[in-house]
Amino acid sequence: MTTPLKISPDPRNESMKITVRKNGPYHVSGGIPLKTVEVIYDDDGNCRTWNETKTYPLQQQQYALCRCGLSKEKPFCDGAHAPAHFVGTEAGDRKPFQKGAGITPGPFLTLADNEHLCAHAGFCQRAGGIGNLVTSPDPDAREIAIEEGGNCPSGRLVVSDTATGEAIEPDLEKSIAVIEDPVHGKHGPLWVQGGIPVIAVDGKAYEVRNRVTLCRCGRSKNKPFCDGSHLEE
Ligand code: FES
Repeated sequence: MTTPLKISPDPRNESMKITVRKNGPYHVSGGIPLKTVEVIYDDDGNCRTWNETKTYPLQQQQYALCRCGLSKEKPFCDGAHAPAHFVGTEAGDRKPFQKGAGITPGPFLTLADNEHLCAHAGFCQRAGGIGNLVTSPDPDAREIAIEEGGNCPSGRLVVSDTATGEAIEPDLEKSIAVIEDPVHGKHGPLWVQGGIPVIAVDGKAYEVRNRVTLCRCGRSKNKPFCDGSHLEE
């Protein structure tokens, strides 16, 4: 059993939250930094790392991010969801991460894998795949597994130390990253980093996690979370 990452409350950031609006955008409050990150591939075509390519100067503490995929001012909402009669109904499954995760124990690391949250970013496939890496006795495999797990934007994959049960999480500042993949011409989800609360339309909070991806194409069947539907464009 892995130990879930503890997100320490930070009084400076208590007002930061993302609220899902009914059939509308994400309302962002608390002056959450907004940036764009791009997928970087290695020479073999594997997803390897992230490159920050843009930071948005925020004029206001609050702003609205498009959830329907129709805005001409992406990533911001321009109101296009209303005339389009966007239906943004949430999936309703609010099980905590650990309840839906399969566990693969290995000599150094244990992998918790909640497929339900997959955004199909593809960082987990290099060097034989993270499932094989965590079961390997090779210390190099351990390092690659930690890297692959930490680069998984949706947090589907959480690697922990087998001996202690402590999750090994990347140190992410509270921010929202708009994912772009210019190599394949794909516009990915919103990557919510650092443990920012996401509040559902009914006012209840989803589990706060270090890494979460929110749908911004409007087509996910697991709204508000990304399910990789943007790749079908
Ligand atoms: S949610 Fe408002 S334009 Fe997309």
